[in-house]
Amino acid sequence: MDFEKFFNGKKVLITGGLGFIGSNLAIKLVGAGAKVTLLDAMIPGHGGNLFNVESIKNDIIVNFSDIRDENSMNYIVREKDYIFHLAGQNDHILSLTNPFPDIDINIKGSAVLLEACAKFNKDTKLIYTGTRGEYGSAVQLPVKEDRPLNPKGIYELSSLTAQKLFKIYNDNHNIKSVSLRLTNVYGERAQMQHSRFGVVNWFIRLAIDNQTIKVFGDGSILRDFLYVHDTVNAILKSAMCDKAYGDVFNVGVDKPTSFLNLVKTIIEVAGSGKWEFAPFTPERAAQEPGDFYSDITKAKNIIGWEPTTELKEGIAMTIDYYRKYKKLYWGGSNDSIW
Ligand SMILES: NC(=O)c1ccc[n+]([C@@H]2O[C@H](COP(=O)([O-])OP(=O)(O)OC[C@H]3O[C@@H](n4cnc5c(N)ncnc54)[C@H](O)[C@@H]3O)[C@@H](O)[C@H]2O)c1
Repeated sequence: MDFEKFFNGKKVLITGGLGFIGSNLAIKLVGAGAKVTLLDAMIPGHGGNLFNVESIKNDIIVNFSDIRDENSMNYIVREKDYIFHLAGQNDHILSLTNPFPDIDINIKGSAVLLEACAKFNKDTKLIYTGTRGEYGSAVQLPVKEDRPLNPKGIYELSSLTAQKLFKIYNDNHNIKSVSLRLTNVYGERAQMQHSRFGVVNWFIRLAIDNQTIKVFGDGSILRDFLYVHDTVNAILKSAMCDKAYGDVFNVGVDKPTSFLNLVKTIIEVAGSGKWEFAPFTPERAAQEPGDFYSDITKAKNIIGWEPTTELKEGIAMTIDYYRKYKKLYWGGSNDSIW
């Protein structure tokens, strides 16, 4: 079944809808004929950007509220067929020095949303986007959903706690939800102002500006880098799949790439930029889980999803977008820690 047939006329809410993944999801849902409401608190330093939804601004409702605001949430969840929960504190570096935004936004915020659904919209279906960081260091590669969960930082722990909250409400209150563990996502409409999260996009910015990209260690660490349009397809397909509810799925790429290869590919595609080896900064060393790539067999078998965009192709589309709209994403800051 295609997205149009399924989502046409459906009422959907996207929390964090002005951010990177949320806005790409909104564009796809508007294209499919859904009635889309976005909720976003435009938290400074995160990916919220009104330009992200410029092309659909006449087709959406935007609500500037905070997911922690019980009164707002108690109203906004009503009558929504699907709620995509993408609002989150995702600054890994901040979480090293201040654990409270992760606890407050990612855990309490998710609980406020779930309680609002339990009270005012028990029939909605929820999709939660967590992180592959919930696993911590890989015990065995590629990493399957049933592997040990040992998050290395507060951000990752808060994501895992939120995922467990969704599962508890699914099982105990019959509020249906599916949770995804996203790997490193890159692409159009991400914040490009600082390097505290979104490593691939930050490298792309440096290449576009013909600056030097620092490759930590010997660059051999493996990761799976996922294009945002593939991510959006995974989110939509999981929402459409009855068998997915109550379960958790990896959303990644089963072909890993080393950081060195990633950087060389970006520079080759951009036709600009340089790279050099550098020692890990203490912040990166503290949270680096080492080699990681996802086993996506479960998503392939149950949801019927797999990524289709080659790394080179995704990087080329991303570079084209930011070259065109650089002024709307670069901002003033350039506090690279990479
Ligand atoms: N981008 C990735 O690589 C990636 C990987 C794994 C998981 N995730 C998760 O996916 C979700 C979306 O990530 P993204 O990359 O689009 O981030 P983003 O920062 O671009 O978007 C998140 C949006 O949520 C909003 N927000 C934050 N706190 C809020 C609050 N309390 N109330 C309302 N809105 C709030 C922000 O203003 C922002 O617009 C996050 O939960 C993130 O942790 C992302």
